[in-house]
Amino acid sequence: MRFFRAAPRILLSHPSEAEAIADLYRRAWRGCERFLDPRLVEDMQPSSGEVRTWLQGGFELYRVEHGGRVVGSIRCTFPASACVLDRLAVDPEVRGQGLGRLLLEHAVSRARRTASGRIWAQVSPKLSAAVALHRDLGFRTVARHLAAYWDEPLLLLELPL
Ligand SMILES: CC(C)(COP(=O)(O)OP(=O)(O)OC[C@H]1O[C@@H](n2cnc3c(N)ncnc32)[C@H](O)[C@@H]1OP(=O)(O)O)[C@@H](O)C(=O)NCCC(=O)NCCS
Repeated sequence: MRFFRAAPRILLSHPSEAEAIADLYRRAWRGCERFLDPRLVEDMQPSSGEVRTWLQGGFELYRVEHGGRVVGSIRCTFPASACVLDRLAVDPEVRGQGLGRLLLEHAVSRARRTASGRIWAQVSPKLSAAVALHRDLGFRTVARHLAAYWDEPLLLLELPL
């Protein structure tokens, strides 16, 4: 079923939205221990306090809401001369409707408005939807490594700007 009649709006998040965003990450990653290391899955489900710390510490988090709920989010950081995009997640109930693409496109255009020379993202090769989405937007794999702390292989994806 399609929930979105009009194009959903992307909103910049504030510390007051931390609980709703943490709740989205809990829903988005629930059950992923079936195919990913539980430590990785736990790290992808931050507490509301952790999300608040991000928002107070210079990270930008963009979100999409539906029916008063946060149903999608992505995080942008701007270390020297690059943009790092991570924490992309869409509520399982509204996947496949273009929200992930909308959030990633928004974050890419945000990065283009900075002096960043490139965007980096790290994605597990097991997350085929996420990998396909990044590739579709022009990201290329520039490295593969094993994240020892999660015992999981990861792809480093890059999009030159
Ligand atoms: C990755 C994720 C954000 C995609 O969100 P979404 O709203 O379902 O994505 P979209 O509807 O915008 O789909 C965009 C593209 O993703 C890819 N995609 C989506 N679902 C897919 C699936 N089940 N299998 C393969 N590719 C898929 C396709 O390339 C699709 O393009 P298309 O619409 O032209 O076919 C979502 O699956 C998610 O939250 N996954 C769990 C968390 C995660 O993997 N985060 C990324 C870590 S960086």
